[in-house]
Amino acid sequence: MDKIKVGMIGLGTVGTGVLKTLAAFKQIEIVKIAVKNLNKKRDINLSKSVLTDNPYEVVDNPDIQIVIEVVGGVEPAFDLIQTAIKNGKHIVTANKELLAKHGEELFSFAEKHNKVILYEAAIAGGIPIIMPIKTILTGNKITKIAAILNGTTNYILTKMDVDGASYQNVLREAQELGYAETDPTGDVEGFDAAYKIATLSTIAFNKRINIKNIYREGITKIQAEDMKYASEFGFKIKLIALAQLDENDNADVRVHPMLVKKTKSLAHIDYVTNAIMLDGHPMGEIMFSGAGAGEFPTASSVVGDVLAIATELKTTDYPLPMMRCHHGEAAKMIDISQTYNRYYLSINVKNNVGVIASLGKSFAENEISVSSLLQKGLMSDNTANIIVITESCNEQNLQNAIKMLKNDNCINKINSLIRVME
Ligand SMILES: NC(=O)c1ccc[n+]([C@@H]2O[C@H](COP(=O)([O-])OP(=O)(O)OC[C@H]3O[C@@H](n4cnc5c(N)ncnc54)[C@H](OP(=O)(O)O)[C@@H]3O)[C@@H](O)[C@H]2O)c1
Repeated sequence: MDKIKVGMIGLGTVGTGVLKTLAAFKQIEIVKIAVKNLNKKRDINLSKSVLTDNPYEVVDNPDIQIVIEVVGGVEPAFDLIQTAIKNGKHIVTANKELLAKHGEELFSFAEKHNKVILYEAAIAGGIPIIMPIKTILTGNKITKIAAILNGTTNYILTKMDVDGASYQNVLREAQELGYAETDPTGDVEGFDAAYKIATLSTIAFNKRINIKNIYREGITKIQAEDMKYASEFGFKIKLIALAQLDENDNADVRVHPMLVKKTKSLAHIDYVTNAIMLDGHPMGEIMFSGAGAGEFPTASSVVGDVLAIATELKTTDYPLPMMRCHHGEAAKMIDISQTYNRYYLSINVKNNVGVIASLGKSFAENEISVSSLLQKGLMSDNTANIIVITESCNEQNLQNAIKMLKNDNCINKINSLIRVME
């Protein structure tokens, strides 16, 4: 049997899982693996001659047909993938950051060289979502994605909800357990989810969504009280990656925390689990959920991509036509200020006469209707928290109302502003 020759760049969490999983597939031969540190102790038996600390020994190797890139980051991954394609190799990658920042260039480059780049693992790790959208769902017009795409932030928000704990305390615990990195910025500020929704919405809408046009807000300002108040109103708080098309196909794509009604399935996606809800015609609403990261779930997606290419290599000169990038035009984006949302506001007010009138005035002047309002008793500093949930209103109007409230003598502070999922 002619074996398909594979090279890999990176042998960390994902690379190790891939290697262990591929061992069961005798049609695949791993020819070379590039790592950074040749002396690192590894959780796998390997012949020394397979390893190299020069990744160009992988991408320049004439025997290798498929290169698996599981290094992460933009450079050197970007140059390595381009070199591999130029040298006639197909690519499997888990690199969401690279795809979000340079996907368009990479896919055009691959197409020019009649090569494919598969990236199932880059979006929601072990959940199959790219392949379904590119194949069995192509008969649909997908108009909405609402997803939980980052396990670290979902873990933190779930623990805050269950334990009534503060963001800082839960983050520390998540770091100790290895669920959050020492520098958690990429996760907690929503960058990771933004990279993923950029690529996911591009393929779902068949329109290019530029990462620079995605509004992004992380979870660092969510307070334990917000969890409690939201729950009293029947909601949970989740970091949601949202992408939707309006009736003119303009795209509204953003990542920010949202109150999600407890009756919705997404509200019950807890801890490190990820989920993706797609809405479209004719399928209606469907949801995918599972492990969004981890050695073996992510390896499942990488290995699936490798085997898909390996099977095609034996039969055709034009592998996987449905998985290729059929460049859509750039999407016309809707700015966050022009979107319509419901809002949860936690407002700290002074114990003054006329507080409710002040709130009413700034809302009325900005055409905002209140759906629910709750005052939480007087605190020792003679202030109280008022929780408001609005009806759907324009974001710019809401921001104008907030500006008015900040200048109002009765208002001490706007504690929180969180959008509410419809
Ligand atoms: N971890 C997950 O659960 C997960 C899930 C989905 C997607 N991903 C994506 O998968 C990719 C890999 O993630 P990971 O968690 O496996 O990362 P990781 O554990 O940090 O592993 C990175 C690997 O790349 C190697 N490396 C770094 N720089 C290199 C260079 N210049 N040349 C050759 N090798 C180099 C490292 O070598 P040493 O071992 O010698 O340090 C290490 O083996 C990333 O794009 C990530 O976003 C990860």
